Amino acid sequence: LRVGLLFGGRSGEHEVSISSARAIAKALSAEQNASKYEILPFYIQKDGHWLAGEAPQKVLGTGMPLLESQESISEGHLIAQSPWQSPSQVSEVDVWFPILHGPNGEDGTIQGLLTLMQVPFVGSGVLGSAMGMDKIAMKMAFEQAGLPQVKYKALTRAQVWSNPCVFPKLCDEIEAALGYPCFVKPANLGSSVGIAKVRSRQELEAALDQAAGYDRRLIVEAGVVAREVECAVLGNDQPKASIIGEITYDSDFYDYETKYTEGRADLLIPAPLPDAIVRQMQDMALQAFAAVDAAGLARIDFFYVEATGEVLINEINTLPGFTATSMYPQLWAHSGISFPELVDQLIQLALE
Ligand code: ADP
Ligand code: DAL
Ligand code: MG
Repeated sequence: LRVGLLFGGRSGEHEVSISSARAIAKALSAEQNASKYEILPFYIQKDGHWLAGEAPQKVLGTGMPLLESQESISEGHLIAQSPWQSPSQVSEVDVWFPILHGPNGEDGTIQGLLTLMQVPFVGSGVLGSAMGMDKIAMKMAFEQAGLPQVKYKALTRAQVWSNPCVFPKLCDEIEAALGYPCFVKPANLGSSVGIAKVRSRQELEAALDQAAGYDRRLIVEAGVVAREVECAVLGNDQPKASIIGEITYDSDFYDYETKYTEGRADLLIPAPLPDAIVRQMQDMALQAFAAVDAAGLARIDFFYVEATGEVLINEINTLPGFTATSMYPQLWAHSGISFPELVDQLIQLALE
């Protein structure tokens, strides 16, 4: 079976995608998978160009983004602006494994393209991907499913960049509804890109302006003091929930540097939690998976407010970080599913 490993992408999580793809490529080459699968890597450059052939092999080898302009990459490896223009390479794929994080990859856009190509792919479809990516749509779906979450306010860029007389009123409303600290986020990013924790009016105004630069849709959330715990889900119509893992760090919050700088965060698997809380989180993870219509895989992140015993859902990630040390594969490894076995199962789920 030829697996189209699709990675890189136009989001701020391009580098994370390369790391995930390297780990998946290694797992597909592992002894138990090598005779079953052949990897056809496709690399999407930061400017959106698709590359096939030697170029993606090089990126997988070095782990470094390929920034050169298309002209300097030898002909035959370039697929141009979209895969439509090179059916010969794209049409060889039997099943796609998109491991793109963030907008233009985790948000239903690639999933729509692959759906139109009528070739199966790993992970959620258009709806699940789009709902899981947009923090406002996601929270509305969770609310509908009765899942507890932090108080929030949804905004648009137009409101933030509106008439200067309207902006102070908007900030007043946010302060009154959510208080400080609160978190200002672009609705459609990942890996904490563009997120700010704010403690004052001045910081709030600056953060709203910054977030509006990233996205048309913004969200502001009341800050909670809580432990951060995560659950992996695997499956389609009868998904299963993994054991729970916890993230600990010394930073102010789990920002990009803390996420991706060696030694800044620790994963604790399994998380030291009462059994009843674990069961509650697993149950909530499955409800969240269904609420956005996810498929294949997702990682559901929670806040556990130890003082009150409250479990709040934070978010769902339909294409979670997938390096060998990432939480998603680690949670399954601790549940008895090795990394190569996990990749195999995900491809088989795509073919269901
Ligand atoms: P991303 O999708 O980029 O991972 P998150 O919504 O998960 O964005 O936020 C990133 C991090 O910011 C969280 O892991 C947590 O450390 C912190 N954070 C986000 N929202 C809140 C909140 N409402 N209260 C406390 N911490 C938060
Ligand atoms: N968005 C990153 C990759 C994650 O959630 O793991
Ligand atoms: Mg997160």
